[in-house]
Amino acid sequence: MGVKLGILGLGTVGTGTVQLLQDKGFRHPLLQEVEIYRVGVRSLDKPRAVTLPESVLTTDLEAIVIDPAVDIVVEVMGGLEPARSLILKAIQNGKHVVTANKAVISRFGDEIFTAANQAGVYVMLEAAVGGGIPVIQPLKQSLSVNRIHTVTGIINGTTNYILTRMQTEGSNFSDVLADAQRLGYAEADPTADVDGLDAADKIAILASLAFGGRIKLKDVYSEGIRQVSKTDIAYAEKLGFVIKLLAIAQSAAPLAAIANRTTPSSPLISVRVHPTLVPKAHPLASINGVNNAILVEGEPIGQVMFFGPGAGAGATASAVSSDILNLVAALKKSKTALNQLLACAHQDYCQIVPMAELVTRFYARFLTKDQPGVIGKLGTCFGNHGVSLESVVQTGFQGELAEIVVVTHDVQEGDFRQALTEIQTLTAVDSIPSLLRVL
Ligand code: NAP
Ligand code: HSE
Repeated sequence: MGVKLGILGLGTVGTGTVQLLQDKGFRHPLLQEVEIYRVGVRSLDKPRAVTLPESVLTTDLEAIVIDPAVDIVVEVMGGLEPARSLILKAIQNGKHVVTANKAVISRFGDEIFTAANQAGVYVMLEAAVGGGIPVIQPLKQSLSVNRIHTVTGIINGTTNYILTRMQTEGSNFSDVLADAQRLGYAEADPTADVDGLDAADKIAILASLAFGGRIKLKDVYSEGIRQVSKTDIAYAEKLGFVIKLLAIAQSAAPLAAIANRTTPSSPLISVRVHPTLVPKAHPLASINGVNNAILVEGEPIGQVMFFGPGAGAGATASAVSSDILNLVAALKKSKTALNQLLACAHQDYCQIVPMAELVTRFYARFLTKDQPGVIGKLGTCFGNHGVSLESVVQTGFQGELAEIVVVTHDVQEGDFRQALTEIQTLTAVDSIPSLLRVL
């Protein structure tokens, strides 16, 4: 028997998730267990990018969360109400929940997780922070033994997209915001993105996981990017910085010591969102466009950075579906001996492409006699084997020998090797000291 999903919402994220779940080939075998049982929307007349049986779509979302047949409720409708009440009702009815809704979790996480713990169900929220980037599960599991010092993130795709285009193209704020909305990055009300409120929701969630305590959203300081002008971006550039909207959660223990505070019984942290001048050499300075990145610093791990697309249908669907899979594995575990996500699920061997069939660019350095026509001979040998050259330069001499560097276009490695074999027979060629692949 399959695991039945009740999905609330079929907008950017809901559609991406349904598309992913309908296209199961060469994905994790556990996806075969998933059945899209009901999908709740506001309007049945809207054209949809996915095809679902008529009986699946409904406007009665309440009926979904109380339906005894539904195992997992996937809340991707957004907003505070009725999303909060539907999540709570789903929990009361014994459903596990997957949500992408950072606004609800950052405000009502206390109520929701308390109810979930009482009901013995899970609430999963990988998509709520960082779009497609796995950061919630790594903080909850893989990094959980660390003492975290700082979490610094670019965690709003819309504002990073806007700042990047203002910086690289000198674009106008409102034009770029309209593009971000068209691409499905922005919230229904983009004020939440632009004024730093979405990033505040997300850093509250990350801080809670990293520092092991609940966070009141009103304690998170937040400034948005409205006051960042093209002039500031240009001055920052001249000074060696880029301007990024950073969300920072930091252990304030060293500050407490300076302020002569007594050692607190629970973690003392600073949590804030504001535009920040970031030195160009900092790992977060090169995170551009809709991409997000979260730099976690702790002990004993040191620095770990998570990077990837922070918004958009496919990226967010990846995170939502990974949560669904985690729950399916947990549900199935009671029927089999092992959790299939923790155990090795592979039985068959992959087919590996032989290196001779690899298509890549090459860099090669030749030492040759300093004779007329050597470059032409090299070119002829490459041409004989269909190897097209991007550049050929004679870079200088090593003793008596001329040094020639060649970069190819994309070629089959086997063809390139055959050309080299022919080149090695040329009397003008002394040696090939370097051979490297180019990305
Ligand atoms: P969206 O495109 O606006 O879609 C919302 C969907 O929910 C629509 O299908 C809408 O139905 C349905 N819906 C909303 N209110 C409803 C109501 N009261 N009753 C019935 N149906 C209702 O939103 P989205 O961009 O997919 O975002 C969904 C959630 O994911 C939000 O919490 C957002 O913060 C989060 N998120 C979004 C992204 C992203 O890149 N977009 C990334 C990460 C997280 P109709 O289609 O009939 O209007
Ligand atoms: N509006 C959000 C952003 C969506 O731009 O990052 C992803 O949470």
